[in-house]
Amino acid sequence: MIFPRERIIFALDVSDRVSALEWVDRLSGHVGLFKVGLELFVSEGPSLVEEISARGERVFLDLKFHDIPNTVAGAVRAAAACGPHIMNLHALAGSEAMRRAAEAASDGAARGGVDRAKLIAVTVLTSHTSDTLGELGIAGSPAEAVQRFAQLAKDSGIDGVVASPMEAAQIRAAWPGGLIVTPGVRPAGTSLDDQSRVATPSGAVKSGADYIVVGRPIRNAKDPVSAADAITAELSEALG
Ligand code: C5P
Repeated sequence: MIFPRERIIFALDVSDRVSALEWVDRLSGHVGLFKVGLELFVSEGPSLVEEISARGERVFLDLKFHDIPNTVAGAVRAAAACGPHIMNLHALAGSEAMRRAAEAASDGAARGGVDRAKLIAVTVLTSHTSDTLGELGIAGSPAEAVQRFAQLAKDSGIDGVVASPMEAAQIRAAWPGGLIVTPGVRPAGTSLDDQSRVATPSGAVKSGADYIVVGRPIRNAKDPVSAADAITAELSEALG
């Protein structure tokens, strides 16, 4: 059972440690996880993940690894040791990379003396269209590719996927126990920013999402804490 507040992953889309920790302190108790992405991780490194965890907060380490199996496994092992709650890689790295990464997540957690991170696969980046997938030789629509990649992730021992809310229902039907994390979430009446295929928080969880990633609707709100609490209220109502 995941409580409504715990389902909100706040995207720490800032570039430095001081701003990141200010957001963590401001939103502590109002969201469930903090997402550390490439910009922040490249700037500040694993010590920031450890610092956020030391405050009793959970981290989604969004580094989207994609390389040969041995390199992906090594990166996952190293990243898992710094104690993220969730981390990810690209399904496009392939089934062997995913199988080895799943083992490496357990190894890394044992080495770091931390709980094992849930390892999820990015299916198809939401920036892709049928045309840009076609350029890469990937047949069919993004939605079809998402289903194929989610099945491969499931068969490779991965814990779940990152997918758009539009694809969550179909993935949930095929993978009842998979963890589904959806970005592209916008509360009713808030700006879409540069997101195009969006759902409301309640729409996303009703489609089967376990966690929703929310950045600008909270970060750019006049009162970010109230914005986060309003999302929790919406999720509570949607989940009954
Ligand atoms: O500000 P906003 O709510 O749009 O932030 C969404 C976060 O989720 C950003 O960190 C963005 O990089 C990430 N993300 C996304 N779409 C994806 C994968 C990740 O918006 N397909």
